[in-house]
Parts: sequence; C-alpha cells; structure tokens
Amino acid sequence: MDANNKDLSNFSAKTPTVFYGGDYNPDQWPEEVWLEDVQLMREARVNLVSLGIFSWARLEPVQGQYDFDWLDRIMNLLHRNGVMVDLATATASPPAWLALQYPESLPVTKDGTTLWPGSRQQYCPHSKAYREAAALLVSQIATRYRNHPALVMWHINNEYACHVSECFCDASAAAFREWLRQRYGSLERLNDAWGTSFWSQHYADWAEINPPRTTPTQINPTQQLDWQRFCSDSILECFQLERDILRGITPAIPVTTNFMGFFKPLDYWKWAGREDIVSDDAYPDPSDSTSHVDTAMRFDLMRSLGQGKSWILMEQVTSQVNWRPQNVLKRPGQMRMWSYQAVARGANGIMFFQWRASRSGAEKFHGALVPHVGTTNSRVWREVKQLGQELSQLSEVLYSRVTAEVAILMDWESWWALEIPSKPSTSISFINQVKAYYAPLFAKNIPVDFVSPESDLSKYRVVLLPNLYLVKESTAQRLNQFVAGGGKLVMSFFSGIVNEEDHIYLGCYPAPFREMLGIRVEEFDPYVPGQTNSINLAGYGEYKCELWSDVIDLEGAEALATYGSDFYAGKPALTRYHYGKGVSYYLGTQPEAAAMSLLLARVCAEAGVKPTLAVPEGVEVVRRETGDSAYLFLINHNNTNVEITLDQPASNLLSQKNESVEAASLISLEGYGVAILASKISNPGIDQPVMGNK
Ligand code: GLA
Repeated sequence: MDANNKDLSNFSAKTPTVFYGGDYNPDQWPEEVWLEDVQLMREARVNLVSLGIFSWARLEPVQGQYDFDWLDRIMNLLHRNGVMVDLATATASPPAWLALQYPESLPVTKDGTTLWPGSRQQYCPHSKAYREAAALLVSQIATRYRNHPALVMWHINNEYACHVSECFCDASAAAFREWLRQRYGSLERLNDAWGTSFWSQHYADWAEINPPRTTPTQINPTQQLDWQRFCSDSILECFQLERDILRGITPAIPVTTNFMGFFKPLDYWKWAGREDIVSDDAYPDPSDSTSHVDTAMRFDLMRSLGQGKSWILMEQVTSQVNWRPQNVLKRPGQMRMWSYQAVARGANGIMFFQWRASRSGAEKFHGALVPHVGTTNSRVWREVKQLGQELSQLSEVLYSRVTAEVAILMDWESWWALEIPSKPSTSISFINQVKAYYAPLFAKNIPVDFVSPESDLSKYRVVLLPNLYLVKESTAQRLNQFVAGGGKLVMSFFSGIVNEEDHIYLGCYPAPFREMLGIRVEEFDPYVPGQTNSINLAGYGEYKCELWSDVIDLEGAEALATYGSDFYAGKPALTRYHYGKGVSYYLGTQPEAAAMSLLLARVCAEAGVKPTLAVPEGVEVVRRETGDSAYLFLINHNNTNVEITLDQPASNLLSQKNESVEAASLISLEGYGVAILASKISNPGIDQPVMGNK
C-alpha cells in the first residue's frame, strides 16, 4: 500500500466488502463471553471492530507498566475468526493515575472550574504530562501490533473535543500566547488585529494576554476568534502527535479519527487533510421526522471532507441511545434504511457503538448489536444479521463515487466569527442557514458537495453561500471570478462583512462582493423572535420571511422579490445580476422554505442542474458511479409504500432474487424500504443520466 495515498479503496482488497461491525469492548466482559462474541460476529458477518477505545486504564494500570496479554489474546481470536481490527490508540480517556500524579493535566473551564476524573476525556490538550503519557502508550501499542495480521486501521483517540473542546488553565494560556506569537510575530500586529485601542485593551507585554476567561462583559471578538482557531489547532496537534508516531512505526496502516458531523469546535477541513480516512459518528433522533435530512447533510460533508473519497460511518446505534431525555427506538427497518443512506452518500463502512450492550456503567442502556435480551428472538439482532448479509454482497459499489454540480461553502472560521456575540442579532445560526439551502435541494434529490474557501470551484455550476460573514480578500476574489467565468452564485444576508481579523470591510456592505452582486446594503434590520415580514416573489406571490432584513439599494441588479411591509416595503429582498458570464443572486432575508425551494429550483434550472430522478415525496435518490457502472440508491423515508417509475432496465442489488426491473416499469418500495439499482453507463465519462423522469 502506498503510504502517501491511503484510502479505503487501497486496502479494501484485504476486506471482502463494505466494513461492518462496531466498537468492541471485550475488557468489559469475562473471556468466556469473547468466544460467543466471535461466533456471533461471524453469524452477523461482522468483519471489522474498533478495539480498545477506552482501554488505557487496562493497558497501563500503573504508569509505565503495560498489560497487553489480554489484548494479544483478543487480537488473535478476532483474526482467527476473520474479523479485522481498527485498533484504538486508547488515549481518549486517561486513567485516574494521570490526574493523581499530574493534577495540572485536568482541564479547567472558563470560570476556573476543574473537571475531575469519573467520566471520560478529562485531559487538557496542552498538558505536557498528558501528551507524554499518550505518546508513550501509542508507541507501545504500535510497536507491539505493527505486524499483527488483524490490524487494518488505526483509530486515533475518539471524538476529539466531544466533551472538552477548550481548556483555560495556565498551561493553555501560555500555549495560546505562543500560538499568537507565531501568528502575529509582534505585539504591534496583534494589537492592530485585535483592535485593542478599544476599551483600553492595548497589550504592552505578551504575558498580559489571557484566554477569553470569564470577564465583566463582552470579550474582544478577535481574541475570541483567535481562541477558537487556537483550540482547534492545539487539539489537532494532539492528533498529529499520535499520527506521526504511528506513521513512523506502521507507515502502511491508514489512520482515522471519528468526526461528529458539523462539529463547531474543530475545523474539520484542516483535520481531514491530515488523516487517511474520514469517519463519522451519527445518531439521528428517530423522534424527529426530519432528522434524515440533517444526516444526509453531514454525510455529504464527510464525503466532501475526504475530497470525494470513501468514508466510514464509524458509529451509529442499532436502535436507541441513552443520552437524550427520551430515547426513542428506531422502528423496524429504520436502522437498515439509515445505514444505506450513508452507503449512498459515499460510505464504505457501516459501524456501530457498540458490539455488546454493557452490564454496568453510564452507557448500559445504550443500544448495541447484541442487546441485553440476547440474540435469540430479538428484533435488533435479526435486523443486524440481515444488514450484515446484504452488505456482504455489495462489494461492487465499493469503488463508486457521488458527483455533485452544486456546492455549499462551509467555512469554520466564518461560522465561529458569525456566532460570537455583539452582532446585530444573536439569532443567526450558521447551521440553520446551511440547512435552509440544503433541505430544498435534498427534497429535489439534487446532489450537493460542501467546499472550503480554498476548494477548486471549477467543477461546480452553482455555489451557495449561506452567511459567509467572514471572508478573506483572496476568497472573495475567487468567488467573484467564479461568477465572472459563468458560475451561478447565491449569497445570503450578512455575508462579506469582515476580513479574517473580524474587521469590517468599509465601503458599504458587502464591500468585497458589491460589484459582483450589483447592490449595496445600507442597513440591517434584525427581527425579534416571532416577528415576521413578507416578500413578494415576482410571479409567485407572497411568502413569509423572518429573522432579518437587509435594506438593499440596486446598483445594476434587478429585484426578484420585494419586502411587503415596514419602512423598506417595496425595496428589494432578493436580487439577481449578470456579472461577466455568470449570474449572482442575493437574498436579504430568511424566507419560508417554499420560497427557498422556488429560488433554488430557478437557479438550478438556469445552471442546467437536474434532479437525479423524479420520485414521490419522502424518497431519497442518490447516484454513485464508477467506470461504466452506476448505482441508483432509492431510499423510502416514508413509513408507507411508494411506487417509482423507471425508464431503463436495472437490477436491484438488494432484492432477494436479484431480479431485473423492466424498462418503464414500476418499482414498489415498502415503508423504510431501500433499493439499489445497478446499471451500465453506455458512454462512461459523459454526464448522462441512467434513469429517466428528469
Ligand atoms: C459517542 C462515543 C461513544 C459512545 C457513543 C454513545 O459517539 O464515541 O464512545 O459514548 O457516543 O452514543
């Protein structure tokens, strides 16, 4: 395997098919249970387990004294039973001795509270003692198992920053100062960037600078923004520390660390570039009838973070979690359906937390592949076995990819800056704005990629910018060039407002984009909760809007919608402008979903972007392709039967009989049903739909 180009397709030759399995915690059980475990794993066609994630205290019960015997035995047993191992570095939860011997390794909150052992993740990412102990453990594990035949992947730490995303202790303060020195070079530059002439905040010595600890009132926003950058970077340093040790000892084994979807504290664009395989943990709430839209969105993010490469759904639950106020069961078929949603959107692995439900501890009521009730006569186990059986037959989809012509720009720095208080409104949530764009496209089955400010935009016809509050000049120029070159772009209110130091771009909002948009924004009018206005959408009537109004003057653009009331009634709410060879749209408010849907349908039609397939409401369609083969995933999120018209023959890879579907015939999908229709592309490489109904 080429160590510099490791991805799933490279080592999937070693695995028969899609990865299937979950977190395995054999150290919670007597060894007799292990024998039953591996026998059941075979029965369910489990081929991969994530092993030892929370085993540090068992592996190193006393500092410097390691106990690997039990891990040797279970690694060997798994290998003998055909189960591969995603071996954890076990650094996610330090043993209690670390806190006792190095109390300064414990994290401290903004207001000075120490977070003690007794749960998990109680370490400061800047703690020298933690980093040294973690590094030693990782070297020991990697050296011991470097040649073990079961080892196929390293699982570094676990859900970095899930519980502790920032630490305000003195060591963290010192690390922050050092990070600032590297970023700014001089105090003069820092004072300028932070705008410290305001409120007597000028710094004359680096030692005067602190993390944004609890203060009397609003903290300097650039200080907060730099703190968020610093926290993401320094937790990334912990990851890199482990990764570099593993690379040195096992250069051919790919590394991953499990992400958490749209997780605000960590800039996953920076992280994803430093790991071999992107993986994600997703726990959609079965009580929320729209959770599959959020899940599709995060799965598209995962695919995009890996630049289109396959990724792994590292954790989900078979049925119910234990950490919501009420933990609703997944209905029969729902776990299977949501698993295929991940495969459709690029996953090559379907994994769970956890293999066997615990008897004790904080997660004993969390679902598992093997539930407390056991495997005989258990609905969960039957579904687990069925899915394992099906996935074991799906090797042919392993190399296929999803292609999108629409991109949503997703920038963590802008997200952080947007949501720092002291804005005209604290009600703008970046993720809600992203969803406002994503949901209508999902409903129409139009594939979407997420892009970073640095991504190449040339392969997209449409770029969407939900609230790009902070933008670098170079990014603004690239976006302007995208439109000038023929692209279609849609931008929401409160975009293009500040540079990377959170300083206003003067010259009327949104200064870096005014010429490209053909407008200027004179004032912002944020709404109080519950307040609404309306927009008159030319040719389509009146729609509700909420959250915010920009007061817009046209400077060449045309108004596609105008406000219905207030002192700016009749002024533009939505504009359109020809710029170079392309077209820009600007949306000055948050219209109701139906109006967003109309707007995006218009932009897509104008750009020649078509839905993957016309299907009944509630049916998700995703197309993956490779070479001359295409796979159309049809996923019925309704709990009732639907019928879908096809106009080209295809075989359903999930049908029991693998029967062909006649041209122009109907395919019937039961409630929560899934079909994967395989077909041949007659002109591979040419952008051509396999299925009709466009
Ligand atoms: C996270 C963690 C797991 C487990 C699950 C429970 O995803 O990584 O260790 O706690 O949550 O849902």
